[in-house]
Amino acid sequence: MVKCRHHSLLYVNHTLAIIGVGNMGSAFAYGLSHMKPAMILRLCDGNSEKLRNFPNAKHFTDPKKAIVGTSAILLAVKPQSSKELLNDLSPLLKDRLVISIMAGISLKTLGKLTGSKRIVRAMPNLPATIGLGCTGWCATPAVSKPDRTFVETIFGAVGTQIELNDESKLDAVTAISGSGPAYFFLLAELLGIKALKEGFSPQESAVLARATMIGSGVLAANDKRTLTELREAVTSKGGTTEAALASLKGNHLDTIINEAIDAAIARSRKLS
Ligand SMILES: NC(=O)c1ccc[n+]([C@@H]2O[C@H](COP(=O)([O-])OP(=O)(O)OC[C@H]3O[C@@H](n4cnc5c(N)ncnc54)[C@H](OP(=O)(O)O)[C@@H]3O)[C@@H](O)[C@H]2O)c1
Repeated sequence: MVKCRHHSLLYVNHTLAIIGVGNMGSAFAYGLSHMKPAMILRLCDGNSEKLRNFPNAKHFTDPKKAIVGTSAILLAVKPQSSKELLNDLSPLLKDRLVISIMAGISLKTLGKLTGSKRIVRAMPNLPATIGLGCTGWCATPAVSKPDRTFVETIFGAVGTQIELNDESKLDAVTAISGSGPAYFFLLAELLGIKALKEGFSPQESAVLARATMIGSGVLAANDKRTLTELREAVTSKGGTTEAALASLKGNHLDTIINEAIDAAIARSRKLS
């Protein structure tokens, strides 16, 4: 089920602890502290320097202290740090909503590690750091409707979110939107490399590649036409774009992309 960016004032009743304020945790801290009204946050990181950017939140280096008085926690540490952390915290997590963005740790494992029945597992992506992320998430049956609305608010604060009805779909989300920014950057890199070969300076090449990606991305975000219609709008009969697209088709770009995503899905399954 696709749900769009959503803000509910229900969150004013919740206090959220974010454990791990690195790349992702700080993206959430930023998005949530800039909502109106701001969500009440308790931020925890081993390195208190990382919390400085969030003067309105409470700061902690001890996760046990950070979760006092909270109704929900967001786990944003690396998966390899999770066992030790959850070993310490689990006696305190039983009655809390636990939201994890840790790659490859299943709802079942999270249930075992935390002792909570109300668990959400999510896969955001890098553009969450500028509030334009795309997050797929799924929840255990015990996660109530108000909890789900709260979760929509959290992921809505860093971009667009989709609730999934089946945990196994998270492997495909990981392969498509999780890794997707890398495919996009690769295409931009390849355009830049070709521009260099065509005699443009490195600076000009970077401008041509980046500006094309930015313009196309913003157009795709704001235009009502489908992606196919937008592509067709650039493709005149017998023109240059048509020649390029025919070459991509002849080289089986569709198979290349399919196989790439399948490889990422297989890897995601293996890692979890
Ligand atoms: N980066 C992405 O694009 C992305 C996308 C989707 C999902 N994710 C998931 O998001 C999670 C975080 O990734 P990230 O890139 O944000 O990692 P990160 O930058 O390394 O952030 C993790 C932070 O957690 C801190 N930390 C570790 N153990 C802690 C503990 N026991 N108590 C408090 N803080 C602790 C780390 O501090 P130290 O550095 O001092 O250990 C670090 O500041 C990962 O599980 C990853 O799978 C990331």
